[in-house]
Amino acid sequence: MNRLRDTLHASTGLMPTDADLERALRDAGGQRTMPAPEDYAPLPGTPAFEALVDQLVVPESWMLRDPAVFTEALRFVQQRLAARPQRAVRILSVPCAGGEEPYSMALVLAQAGIPASRCRIDAVDLSQAAIARARSGRFTRNAFRGADLAFRERWFTRQGDDYLVDDALRAYVGFSQGNLLALADRAGLPAGVPAAGVLPPYDLVFCRNLLIYFDAPTRTRAAQAIANVLADDGLLLSGHAEAPSFCANGFVPVHTGFVLRKRIGPAQPATAMAALADLPPLRRRARAAPLPMAPHRPAAATPAPPTAPARRPAPDELLAQARSLADAGRLQQAEAACRTLLDITPDSADAWFLLGTVQASAARPHAADTSWRRCVYLAPDHYEALCSLALLHEGLGDAATGAGFRQRAARIYARRGGASA
Ligand SMILES: C[S@@+](CC[C@H](N)C(=O)[O-])C[C@H]1O[C@@H](n2cnc3c(N)ncnc32)[C@H](O)[C@@H]1O
Repeated sequence: MNRLRDTLHASTGLMPTDADLERALRDAGGQRTMPAPEDYAPLPGTPAFEALVDQLVVPESWMLRDPAVFTEALRFVQQRLAARPQRAVRILSVPCAGGEEPYSMALVLAQAGIPASRCRIDAVDLSQAAIARARSGRFTRNAFRGADLAFRERWFTRQGDDYLVDDALRAYVGFSQGNLLALADRAGLPAGVPAAGVLPPYDLVFCRNLLIYFDAPTRTRAAQAIANVLADDGLLLSGHAEAPSFCANGFVPVHTGFVLRKRIGPAQPATAMAALADLPPLRRRARAAPLPMAPHRPAAATPAPPTAPARRPAPDELLAQARSLADAGRLQQAEAACRTLLDITPDSADAWFLLGTVQASAARPHAADTSWRRCVYLAPDHYEALCSLALLHEGLGDAATGAGFRQRAARIYARRGGASA
């Protein structure tokens, strides 16, 4: 098992527990019928290795996940096309899971009237099963989680219980199985690791909800890989909780917490986000009293500071405002909006989650820790809060606490059926 775990980690960055590995070996059993011998370790690139990887990855994703990210992406593409009308814009989505992220980007482009000939999306994931799903273009209801699903009626066709993506969106995207880490240091990897379908430099790279599964050295390799394929004047769109890790590894925030660019030239003084990675380990905190949890609502588009309102906004409006302010990098106002909301509904897990995200972006990890813990106290299945806590603690050098949160997140994922679509 140790040899197998080492091979998996060196090649892919995955860090399965013993229990995960035993389950994966059992479930990938099509490849073998006997229990694995202690030194069983198929080579990367072999069918046995790929089958095991498929059992270990977390291909959790959904359409228009974090809508503000796609708003930023569209704005950038439009600026790029205006500045260089003769060149198509090139986008990389890695990891793309079952295709939810690149199809979402295609949808946003199509709705903005930008044709596939003007913008090409390469989409890559380690899991061959995820790539097969992405190519099939078939999604279950689980891939559509917002309240406003009008886009589904326009761009997907119902087939039984599933939804099939429109050919017009397929035209934007090319899928390949590949390993991001292979782009960091090909020479240092075991033979047979693919890095197919990637043709740098890219104007825009989506790399979201991947670093949360990696340890610190692997996060550095992943950031290096992204730096290798991103144009010097290109943008990286990261997950909210992952931006500090990128900023500790050669990236700087642009104007919004999750929009980053490469740091060019000598290292600059630590940004607020990079500083997050340098703080001492956290102390454990007492838990707050349990309170009922609030439902999730998607962000609305029009922010307005919640100071001195003529009438008190409804909690949903306040949450939407707070999200928009956070997405616009207006952290103080976002925090104020979260606190106003929490004054009205102190049991809103989503408000605590957002408050933690804002505090993490402002390099206040202790405050973020408290808020995210409150969130998972109120909503023990809050997957994103658990992932954020895992990354926060691992970034702060408390690997054991980070691993605990990571395992809780993995259990929730497994309970949901382990499917992203
Ligand atoms: C949680 S999904 C993220 C999908 C999407 N970016 C999003 O935010 O919704 C994580 C994906 O990372 C992929 N993955 C894990 N290690 C990888 C690696 N070394 N290279 C490329 N993809 C990887 C997994 O197969 C899985 O589909």
